[in-house]
Amino acid sequence: MKILIINGSPRVKGVTGQILTKIKNSLIEIDPSLGIEYIDLAEMNVHLCSGCFSCYKKGYCHIKDDGLENLSKKIENSDGVIFGSPTYVTNVSGHFKVLMDRCHFVFERLLYNKACFSVVTYENFGGRKAQKVINELIRNSGGAVSCQYLLKLNHEEKAITDKRNNQISKLSHKFLLKVEKDNPLSIYERIFRKVSFSVGIKPHVLKNKIQYRGIIDRWVENGYYIEK
Ligand SMILES: Cc1cc2nc3c(=O)[nH]c(=O)nc-3n(C[C@H](O)[C@H](O)[C@H](O)COP(=O)(O)O)c2cc1C
Repeated sequence: MKILIINGSPRVKGVTGQILTKIKNSLIEIDPSLGIEYIDLAEMNVHLCSGCFSCYKKGYCHIKDDGLENLSKKIENSDGVIFGSPTYVTNVSGHFKVLMDRCHFVFERLLYNKACFSVVTYENFGGRKAQKVINELIRNSGGAVSCQYLLKLNHEEKAITDKRNNQISKLSHKFLLKVEKDNPLSIYERIFRKVSFSVGIKPHVLKNKIQYRGIIDRWVENGYYIEK
């Protein structure tokens, strides 16, 4: 089983990173044979999306020197993904937003049938909204929100306590059970995925096959669409 952990905080050893590291250690404790990779977006010098539409037309991003194309492939090839972000102005961090914009998530169905885990930290207000942004990204990309962890913490407060250790350990067990399933989506998520793809995404893309050539090719490759 391949599990990818992505930290969207600029402070790699901050609260979000501490929680994600704890999850990583819990998972290793449960199953040492797991293939876990931990990525700090802050260490990748990521570039903003330039809005060139190359991903829609050609299926790949023209920016090649920051590793995000490679990260998108890693996400696609993993069985489960854990996303973490601090709350910035009641939303995800800038690093996390770049990940969302650049890694071919929604139209490409990047998280199709994958168990995902959203982790959000905040100090005062807006954490719930930031987590909703990540959960929507997951579901809009064909994945399952299998676990969630939302942590409200005062600045400089200790992140890891016995109580949180226990919570994280339980969630890690739950997450692994979902990762092992062929289709971890809930009934609601399955219905949502079917309706949003067939009513929203597919007709929109097929209306302009030249503009979305790269997306259609990817659907055909992954068996989401048969071209006549
Ligand atoms: C630019 C900026 C904006 C922030 N906006 C919010 C916010 O809207 N609501 C909130 O509760 N905390 C906000 N915070 C606090 C962080 O979300 C909080 O400290 C978080 O746990 C930091 O995680 P980290 O240590 O992983 O970076 C903000 C912090 C920064 C630096």
